[in-house]
Amino acid sequence: MSRARVAVLISGRGSNMAALIEAAKDPAYPAEIVLVLSNIADAGGLDIAQAAGIETAVIAHAPFGKDREAHERMIDARLRQSGVHIVALAGYMRVLTPYLVETWAGRMINIHPSLLPAFPGLHTHQRALEAGVAKHGCTVHLVTTGVDEGPILGQAEVEVLPGDDEDRLGARVLEQEHKLYARCLADLVGALGD
Ligand code: GRF
Repeated sequence: MSRARVAVLISGRGSNMAALIEAAKDPAYPAEIVLVLSNIADAGGLDIAQAAGIETAVIAHAPFGKDREAHERMIDARLRQSGVHIVALAGYMRVLTPYLVETWAGRMINIHPSLLPAFPGLHTHQRALEAGVAKHGCTVHLVTTGVDEGPILGQAEVEVLPGDDEDRLGARVLEQEHKLYARCLADLVGALGD
């Protein structure tokens, strides 16, 4: 069985990336992580990926200044060089232009730490606590040009508990993120059927 070739884009610690790498260690998992790419040279996740024997690349955005598309053209070229089929954003902290989003339409996914459409954007756990919601969680969705707006592929709920603060709630959501992302990536590979 040939497995889908997946690149993970990160900017930071890469715990979701690590969860995908872990899931893909199972030969029966339908995807393999062939590349981890970061816009930040010292992103912690790069060390984890290298330790797992996965190819890494850094394409810093700073040299491109305001030309976001030029940065993305470099990224796209690197993805193609690795023969990537699917791109998984995992804490990649750049808003993408329509260029990259449209190039990878239907094949680029993101994980977001809230039950979208609630709480798009940043500081989702704090905002959920302030809003007093009973249920919070995470979402995997296809990436479209609207930030955190694409079609939802899966969600996992987390109950908000008395005494929760941002860190405690965030940690429970993160645990669910790691399971959800691996599941949704496998589902997408199945749905694409190639
Ligand atoms: C996660 O909460 C993810 O949902 C969000 O950014 C965070 C990245 O964490 N998009 P990590 O780098 O995967 O640990």
